[in-house]
Amino acid sequence: MTRTARLRVAVLASGRGSNLQSLLDACADVEFPAEIALVLVNVPDAPAIERARAASVPVEVIDHRAFAGRELFDAALDKALHASGIELVCLAGFMRMLTPGFARGWEGRLVNIHPSLLPAFPGLDTHRRALEAGVKLHGCTVHYVIAELDSGPIIAQAAVPVFDADDEDSLAARVLAAEHRLYPRVLRLIADGRVRIAGWRTLIDDVRPLDAALFNPDVDAANR
Ligand code: GRF
Repeated sequence: MTRTARLRVAVLASGRGSNLQSLLDACADVEFPAEIALVLVNVPDAPAIERARAASVPVEVIDHRAFAGRELFDAALDKALHASGIELVCLAGFMRMLTPGFARGWEGRLVNIHPSLLPAFPGLDTHRRALEAGVKLHGCTVHYVIAELDSGPIIAQAAVPVFDADDEDSLAARVLAAEHRLYPRVLRLIADGRVRIAGWRTLIDDVRPLDAALFNPDVDAANR
C-alpha cells in the first residue's frame, strides 16, 4: 500500500513521556510517513503534556478521575480520537487498562510498547522480575493491543543484555534506550503499510532476515 498523506497518529501517555518524545522526534522529519496529530494524557500534570506542547502538537488532557467508570472514560478517548481523524493509536506509558470494547473498536489500529520480551513478564515491575528470574537477555516489545493485558500480535522486539552488576535502574535505562529506537522504527513500518496481521503473528514485508543468533555474553570475545 502506498500512501501519499502521512498516517495520522495519536499517542496516549500518562507520565514522563520519553517514548512520546522519541515518536515526536521521528515525526518532526516531514519525510517520515506518520505524524502525531494528537497527544492524549490522563494525568493533568504529566511531563508528557509539555513535550507535546514543545513540539506544537495538539494535546488534550482527559482526566480519568472525572469519569464514573472505565467505559465512560474510554468513550471520551474514543470520541477525541475520532474527532481528530486518528488512524493509529500508540500507547506509550499509558497507565490505564483499556476496556475490551475500546480494544475491539481499535483492533489492528492500536499498538503498545512494553518493557520486556513478551510473552515473558507481562504486567508491572518487569525489570525487577527479569533480574529475579536471572534472564541473560531482556528487552522490549511493540505489539498490537487486544483485550487481554500485554498480549496481542508482536510486531517487533529489541533485546538487551543483562549484566551481573545490573540493578533495576541500570537495566531499565538500557531497555528504555532500546525502546526509543524500536518504537519509531515500528511506526515507520506500520505507516509504510508493511505490517500484516496473520492470526497471532504479524508478518513484515520486505525485511532481510538475520541468520545470526544473538549471544549474551559475547562468548567468543576471549578468543579474538
Ligand atoms: C516505558 O518503559 C514503556 O515501555 C512502558 O511504560 C514506560 C513509559 O515510559 N509501557 P515513558 O513515559 O515513555 O518515558
